[in-house]
Amino acid sequence: MHSKHREKLFSLFDDDQNGAVFIQGKDIMYRYDTDYEFPFRQESNFWYLTGVNEPECALILDLNTEEYHLFVPERDAQYAVWHGYVKTREQYLEEYKPDHLHFHNEILTVLNELNPETVYCLNEEQAQFVEDLSRDFKVDSDSLTDALTYCRVLKTDWELDQLREASRVNNLAYRAAMQAIKPGMYEYEIKAIFNKVQLENGLLMDAYNGIFAAGKNASILHYVESKSKIEDGDLFLLDAGFECNGYASDFTRTFPANGTYTDIQKGIYNSVLSGMNAVLDAVKPGVKMEDLHLLAARTMMEGLKELDIVRGSVDDMMNEDIFALFFPHGLGHFLGLDTHDVGGYPKGVDRIDRPGIKFLRARRELQPGMVITVEPGIYFVPAVLEPAMQDEAKKSFLNTEKVRSLLNFGGVRIEDDIAITDTGYENFTDVPKEVDDIEKLMK
Ligand code: GLY
Ligand code: MN
Ligand code: MN
Repeated sequence: MHSKHREKLFSLFDDDQNGAVFIQGKDIMYRYDTDYEFPFRQESNFWYLTGVNEPECALILDLNTEEYHLFVPERDAQYAVWHGYVKTREQYLEEYKPDHLHFHNEILTVLNELNPETVYCLNEEQAQFVEDLSRDFKVDSDSLTDALTYCRVLKTDWELDQLREASRVNNLAYRAAMQAIKPGMYEYEIKAIFNKVQLENGLLMDAYNGIFAAGKNASILHYVESKSKIEDGDLFLLDAGFECNGYASDFTRTFPANGTYTDIQKGIYNSVLSGMNAVLDAVKPGVKMEDLHLLAARTMMEGLKELDIVRGSVDDMMNEDIFALFFPHGLGHFLGLDTHDVGGYPKGVDRIDRPGIKFLRARRELQPGMVITVEPGIYFVPAVLEPAMQDEAKKSFLNTEKVRSLLNFGGVRIEDDIAITDTGYENFTDVPKEVDDIEKLMK
């Protein structure tokens, strides 16, 4: 499949027969100045083109012959003693199927043999590496990133299968966590239950820092401490996912620690769920992410108005960015080899500089083969709401008494991963999200 990814990239360079692509893979990272190794995870563009999840490799793609040169490190006996098996040439060739295999110190020799007119690099640092090898090469550090981004946005069937498998395991992990939670447990205990399912299924890498947040911690968008006690009456927000062959899952569910939503929890939860359902009803090829974002925001504000948390005209709330007080992030993002995957803003498309939409990570028309998250949310963030309640223009929209009573509420987010199809979408997330279904599962 990685050879298909290379073919896709070659097809974009058809007019440039005399160039070469050079990419340096990543090295192991260490904690500060110690020998504590972080788990190795290949850089996503290199992984996309090679499937090589090993440190200290590099590639050259000859745009003339469409041949793939893989460069690997030359390991010695000390490496075997400390780090593991030293692969033979045959093993590298068998596993990764490059057209040519070289040691890492042969990059200059190969470049000299190919003598490309232009060497395309991912960034300035790698372009500098090539220039330092020889001043004879003309380097281009702009076009390659755009080309790879273009390739990675539309997923192949094989990529969709990896995303499905990551989601399959996530579906199991969510159910296990929802069935196990009880007041009195600690957030990290839910993380342990969740991660056990991941490891039992052979998925060894988190897709991102998971969020295991009880009560008011759920209002912190990237809360990662996971060490608070879960109290009776808390909502629990779980936003975590695993990688399968590098491809991510990224769900969120928000459920009651004791198995039953209170009336106000149900009201706010259902406002978010209405936002989610409105978006899922509208998703199809040709629809723009920013329109879906605004649709979710409007639907959630209608829900908050019914609960008498906000007051006045929903049109005015949209025009005045009041929705950003409760929904301060984007509706979703592309998903793939990175959780926040590439391609959300193609060249020439900029972020909209308005409080309610500037954090949206994708502004594109959806097309079959794109994979996105849909993740509306409502949060009660004191640092946002307290000043808003002092602001003349904003406070006229707020039932300040009710908002004040909810400052410790936390937040609700619901997040599904979907692939856009010719007629609509396929939902990879299969975890209950209706209140009754969640309560039933938890019982
Ligand atoms: N957990 C990161 C996100 O949902 O985008
Ligand atoms: Mn998430
Ligand atoms: Mn997400």
